[in-house]
Amino acid sequence: MIHTREKIGLRPYNTMRLNSRCANWVEFDAPEDAPAASALAESISGENGIAIIGGGSNIIFGEAYPGVLIHPAIMGWDAVALGGGEMEVVVGAGVVLDDLVANICAAGLWGLENLSGIPGTVGGAAVQCAGAYGVEFGECVKYVKVWDRVENKFLTLSHDELDYGYRYSVFKHPENSGRYIVLQVAITVSKNSEPKLEYGPLKKLAGKSGLTPVDVRNEVLEIRDSKLPRTDETGSAGSYFKNPVVSSTEWDAFCERVKGMGIDIESVPHFILNGGSVKIPAAWLIDKCGWKGRTLGNAGVWHKQPLILINATGNATSDDILALEKAIVADVQQRFGIGLKPEVVRL
Ligand code: EPU
Repeated sequence: MIHTREKIGLRPYNTMRLNSRCANWVEFDAPEDAPAASALAESISGENGIAIIGGGSNIIFGEAYPGVLIHPAIMGWDAVALGGGEMEVVVGAGVVLDDLVANICAAGLWGLENLSGIPGTVGGAAVQCAGAYGVEFGECVKYVKVWDRVENKFLTLSHDELDYGYRYSVFKHPENSGRYIVLQVAITVSKNSEPKLEYGPLKKLAGKSGLTPVDVRNEVLEIRDSKLPRTDETGSAGSYFKNPVVSSTEWDAFCERVKGMGIDIESVPHFILNGGSVKIPAAWLIDKCGWKGRTLGNAGVWHKQPLILINATGNATSDDILALEKAIVADVQQRFGIGLKPEVVRL
């Protein structure tokens, strides 16, 4: 079934709770409706553009989107046992990610528990390669079924074709912008106990006998609660910036600069990646610039985790958020010589 709407307010459809608007909305709830929904969106949009949105948890809308938003609302999932305790679950793109995670954990299956509490849909997580506490969604994805709007055909993209990386996938390749509508996502989960407990606060669970996916989920939910705003109380889009990765030469220059600022380099959190490049937490950089808990206009920086920009008054516009983004980027660039890049998608 396909539903269309005109001139709608987008506040319910973005977790930053911006009062943006869009000219047209096309929603469909079955994979086989994708060709007709896509053709309809094309006929309505003219030159005004088409974008695909899931749960709106990682998106910053402008004031008014003149084109058509396509929303795949495909629900439900089917599980097939693969043998050896492995299970393949084919999930509709419109399923709320945390509903899936809660059910998979409750069934005693491992693989998704560290992703507990991430807002958004399964389709969005497959595009964005959502991740938390040492696990990235892409690791569990076996294949994704899409409608290809360029070739006008259904495609199944295998794990290798999905090109997953840190908050990255084939859907992020610039030439693929708006090309694929994610319909269903196949994930693999396992009955065999495989907890991933390397992230600091999760380490305390290591070695606990009888540990279940629900135990890990509960711990993750507690950690999230202590750091991140609840999206039903405070508008946010999760981490606003990516954690920057610098080359070893850039890292050396950064160390010199940091020493010059009187900061002990040993105190700077960082992770050396394969190949020698270095990931520096954007939260640390923003914190050191003094932005934690500050506001600018109606936008603000979350007081417990400065990587999260918030709709501080509930009345922020996209301009408020953008002004805060620019101020933080300029500050971090000026003090540390590092250019932060947004993790959120702007429309
Ligand atoms: N830090 C500070 N000050 C703070 C908070 C953090 O200096 O107030 C430093 C600390 O050194 C800390 C480091 O920043 O060790 C990293 O912080 P945290 O562990 O909270 O994680 P993050 O790197 O800021 C990333 C993801 C989150 C994910 C967490 C946990 C990105 C862009 N963000 O944040 O994902 O939940 O790790 O795995 O990679 C999201 O993508 O929306 C998101 C919330």
